Amino acid sequence: MHTQTFSCSFEHYASREEIASDKQALIDACLGAMNNAYAPYSHFSVGAAVLLENGVLVLGNNQENAAYPSGLCAERVAFYAAGANYPGIRILAAAVTASSSQYQQGNPVTPCGGCRQCMLEYELKQRTDIELFMISPSGEILKSSSIKQLLPLHFESIGKF
Ligand code: THU
Repeated sequence: MHTQTFSCSFEHYASREEIASDKQALIDACLGAMNNAYAPYSHFSVGAAVLLENGVLVLGNNQENAAYPSGLCAERVAFYAAGANYPGIRILAAAVTASSSQYQQGNPVTPCGGCRQCMLEYELKQRTDIELFMISPSGEILKSSSIKQLLPLHFESIGKF
């Protein structure tokens, strides 16, 4: 027996001003997308944005439903929209943020496990890393250099891309 250890590291930025301008646009798009979340049940609005290699920004936000499990997270809305509308165009980076009138959300928002698995599939498919910017309501930013870093021991299908 031996112990296996995984480590991961993140960059922390105090504000968007510390970030390159193309990524600032991504962050602004993500904050804007949050305003169009449809979250009447959770009162937790999430915004996401995806930056494609052709410079296009694709937006997403959580879309809830009276039949609760039928709703979809912001990250998946954005990634699936990118996959549906820009097939074959690589994703360079993504951003996610959230705010709630009912809960205190202090730290940068980190994606749920399901979204990590779904975003990871795009990274594996395109064979290049996707940077992820996670943003707090006060504008603090945590950056991961890849999605796989967020999901050690991820599930991989038997199919090869
Ligand atoms: N949600 C997201 O949009 N992204 C996540 O990574 C986690 C949760 C949404 C789902 C639901 O509409 C609300 O936040 C509360 O869970």
